Amino acid sequence: MMKTMKHTGKRFILSSFFFIVFLCILASINELRFDSLLEFSKCALSYAPSNSSFGNNLVVKPSSDEIRVLIGILTLPDQYHRRHFLRLIYGTQSPAGVKVDVKFVFCNLTKEDQKVLVALEIMRYDDIMILNCKENMNKGKTYTYFSSLPEMFSTSDGPYPPYHYVLKGDDDAYVRLESLVESLRPLPREDLYYGYVIPCPSMDPFVHYMSGMGYLVSWDIVEWIRDSDIPKNRLEGPEDKIFGDWIREGHRGKNRYNAKWSMYNYPDPPTRCTHELRPDTVSVHLLKTQEKWIKTLQYFNVTQNLKPSKLYHIP
Ligand SMILES: *[C@@H]1O[C@H](CO)[C@@H](O)[C@H](O)[C@H]1NC(C)=O
Ligand SMILES: *[C@@H]1O[C@H](CO)[C@@H](O)[C@H](O)[C@H]1NC(C)=O
Ligand SMILES: *[C@@H]1O[C@H](CO)[C@@H](O)[C@H](O)[C@H]1NC(C)=O
Repeated sequence: MMKTMKHTGKRFILSSFFFIVFLCILASINELRFDSLLEFSKCALSYAPSNSSFGNNLVVKPSSDEIRVLIGILTLPDQYHRRHFLRLIYGTQSPAGVKVDVKFVFCNLTKEDQKVLVALEIMRYDDIMILNCKENMNKGKTYTYFSSLPEMFSTSDGPYPPYHYVLKGDDDAYVRLESLVESLRPLPREDLYYGYVIPCPSMDPFVHYMSGMGYLVSWDIVEWIRDSDIPKNRLEGPEDKIFGDWIREGHRGKNRYNAKWSMYNYPDPPTRCTHELRPDTVSVHLLKTQEKWIKTLQYFNVTQNLKPSKLYHIP
């Protein structure tokens, strides 16, 4: 009797061990990185039995280099074609090993047809956020966006923070997700304010504010926007400048990153805010015409991975 129990115990420990090895291999395969071996050993160690309750609450921890980014593109309910187009643009980018969610953000629907068409879009794509507000550009939509996020994404079982970074984007900007993520990797995950510094010739991220073409903050700043009275009391005015005022008044953004000139306005017509297209681009802004979009997409070779098929021929 004693002997059997001892054997069963040994067998249990052995099989638990192999189960953990199996979990770690799974986790490492997901990583597909050079450091996967390192991850593997870290992973195995983190499962090492520390006491007798070993085996309970076995949860695969996300590796520490996972980055979660939310890109909220502020747009209007009626912009169906724009959303369709942007879904093509973002749906064909898939940066490896990170979570980048692109959502379209607008205020309350106001028309009967929107209630049908937007609901259908949500059923098909599930990439829309409807805020509790009336459409406006410079009267608090940005505030409603950021301050609604903690509640919208709070879960008891998901990771915390739900996103390390949140970006407010424009629907006339092209964001290259892989470059964005690479630029974020070395940066702090707290108290970060990232973007294209205004005024255009300035390279000092501590002087003014980040342009509305697309700015990004870490999750703690999102929570601060929800909690603080500073943003609540200053809603009206150019949204990007007002945002910069909150940050300054609240003494936030001790970490800042000037993404100039990997973010810029489209080069035509040239101004002090524009730049020629360049390979290390994070974002191109003011793509106001189809022609500008096409030239930009061509420059970045976005269709070069089109798979060959007998079903079509594109010269
Ligand atoms: C065993 O682990 C549990 C949960 O992690 C913990 O609450 C408990 O204090 C630990 N016991 C010992 C003896 O380390
Ligand atoms: C937005 O819609 C919700 C739900 O229909 C409603 O409760 C809320 O009052 C509306 N908000 C505004 C600002 O119109
Ligand atoms: C696009 O492809 C061309 C031809 O292969 C190459 O010379 C160019 O560097 C690529 N451009 C970018 C931005 O990667």
